[in-house]
Amino acid sequence: MSRRVKIAPSLLAADPLRLGDEIAGIEAAGADLLHFDVMDGHFVPNISLGIGLLENVRRATRLPLDVHLMLDNPERHLAAFAAAGADGITVHLEVHPEPEAILERIGELGKTRGLAVNPDMPIERLAGRLARVDRLLVMSVFPGFGGQSFIPESLDRLARARRLLAAEGRPEAELQVDGGVGPGNCAALAAAGADCLVAGTAVFRAPDPAAAIAALRGG
Ligand code: DX5
Ligand code: ZN
Repeated sequence: MSRRVKIAPSLLAADPLRLGDEIAGIEAAGADLLHFDVMDGHFVPNISLGIGLLENVRRATRLPLDVHLMLDNPERHLAAFAAAGADGITVHLEVHPEPEAILERIGELGKTRGLAVNPDMPIERLAGRLARVDRLLVMSVFPGFGGQSFIPESLDRLARARRLLAAEGRPEAELQVDGGVGPGNCAALAAAGADCLVAGTAVFRAPDPAAAIAALRGG
């Protein structure tokens, strides 16, 4: 794989009482994106980051903000997340089994369009659904919490997702993986075709986040 792998630290794992320093630290360390997890306590069991925080984060960094909506009704909130400073917005196929309209709406708002699948969603269900996708997110844990263990079957799912993107004429779409990503699996993830690694615990809970980012990138 000669593609350069992007690293997207997940803000969920940052120290909320030192958020400004945490963000400045990963930006200086060469993070490519900042991943922003939004949970509604309904689609997933947990409640996390919201629109007001996103507005503040937008003012604190030049990093592209990659907003992962784990919501049962993302369509209600797209405009607000767009206005608050998202650069990309990802919604779940589990919520929108026919995602074309919502992806189109994200594009109309001028944001990159992401589609996510949980670990139990057959990759084949994405067939015919990728025309409007800029970013395909293969979850490697069941969403809801940081710090979970990587599900090993995700490697094969990534490889199949990468082949499907090529078969559907979307080889340039980004293939992202999220959940349990760390120094022990990053090389295998890149080899399987992932070109954007989301990592919370492995970056923000590392003693040296800059070194952790370099290690994830394969440095
Ligand atoms: C899980 C979130 C992830 C999470 C990853 O529901 O979507 O982005 O923050 O955290 P780690 O890297 O700790 O598994
Ligand atoms: Zn996420």
